[in-house]
Amino acid sequence: MGARAVAPPRVVNVEDLRRIAKRRLPRVVFDYIDGAAEGEVSAGQNINVFESVTFRPRHAVAVPSVDVHTEVLGHRIDFPVILAPVGSSRMFYPRGECVAAAEAGRAGTIYTLSTLSGCRLEDVKAATTGPAWYQVYLTGGRDVARLAIARAKQAGFSALAVTIDTPVSGFRERDLRNGTKELLTRNPVAMLPYVWQFLARPRWLMDFFADGGMMAFPNIELNGAPMPYADVSAALESTVVTWDDLRWIRDMWSGPVIVKGVLTAEDAKRAVAEGAQGIIVSNHGARQLDGVSSTLRALPEVVAAVNGQAEVMLDGGVRRGTDVVKALCLGAQAVLIGRAYAYGLGAAGGAGVARTIEILRTDITRTLKLLGCSSVAELNRSYVDVPADWSANRQHNLSNVLA
Ligand code: FNR
Repeated sequence: MGARAVAPPRVVNVEDLRRIAKRRLPRVVFDYIDGAAEGEVSAGQNINVFESVTFRPRHAVAVPSVDVHTEVLGHRIDFPVILAPVGSSRMFYPRGECVAAAEAGRAGTIYTLSTLSGCRLEDVKAATTGPAWYQVYLTGGRDVARLAIARAKQAGFSALAVTIDTPVSGFRERDLRNGTKELLTRNPVAMLPYVWQFLARPRWLMDFFADGGMMAFPNIELNGAPMPYADVSAALESTVVTWDDLRWIRDMWSGPVIVKGVLTAEDAKRAVAEGAQGIIVSNHGARQLDGVSSTLRALPEVVAAVNGQAEVMLDGGVRRGTDVVKALCLGAQAVLIGRAYAYGLGAAGGAGVARTIEILRTDITRTLKLLGCSSVAELNRSYVDVPADWSANRQHNLSNVLA
């Protein structure tokens, strides 16, 4: 994996890492991380919704030390933040998935590896000292997925996260403008108008070639060979994950199954009924269907519907430790971060991911002290106020499901 890069100076928040990543990465790669579906309305709401939840601190309480560990699906993690599956991380930094997994392990938390990884799942598991989850798409069909799941089991991944919100790739306008499709054709004439993006980032380009150039997907073996990068959209569309598939996966995998992409009481109840032990309230970082609810807004409805029958997590828009604490107060067991660490990886490799983690961990510790709460386990709804109309709408949705 090589030496860890030097931490960039004066990085005080995740937005700083985002800015550095924008300077280091070719536009097409940065926008792949940063962009979202269509008008990017839900993407903005995922972030801004945290502002509408406010804290109710208990003052004049001495909290000399705080305990930020939590338990998730049988794992004790050192702080309540998990790294979400982020496909193609190898494009952001050489051996990107291995580098990010190593930092998760170093920080005492879980790394979730995407099916659409540029590194072999065995190498990623070996790179981390912590637990790892494997995210499942059925790209290539059930037989291909069966093989990857068997490999994941053999390699020591402890849970599967089945993503249910990707029946087709979302329409990401930035990708279209940047010529993502054309750049994957390997046809010089089609690529020509877009290659300047790479030429403008010579250091990234050198790293990219040193890491083997255009990656394939080594965990999706089609006829014994890794699936080429260009085939991903069509492959996703031809293999929609259904509840039937979830049952099939449940029967094949002896460990916990997590359903990723739940936004409603209806799906939450269905996931529990199908045997999910974990649920991730997620809109895929608003990269799929624009116009869906922000995830924090959907969290109370899902937590109430699950009613303790599974562990509920949340991802989407988490950029600060205060965001993490608000989600925990509203019933999440832990949160996952996607872009927050992907910016770090794109900015400075392992050192950037480590900085993201350090920022969030420090934020969470300080926030708990300011709230007068000595542990993550003691956080509850009494530490936050939510807008009045949230609970009315939740009651309406829940009574529809229960009727
Ligand atoms: C993702 N996400 C994702 N999810 C998944 O289940 N499989 C995948 O392959 C990917 N790939 C992916 C790539 C990139 C570049 C991003 C930013 C995200 C979604 C991810 O797991 C998570 O749900 C979101 O990233 C959470 O939102 P934030 O933290 O990015 O705001």
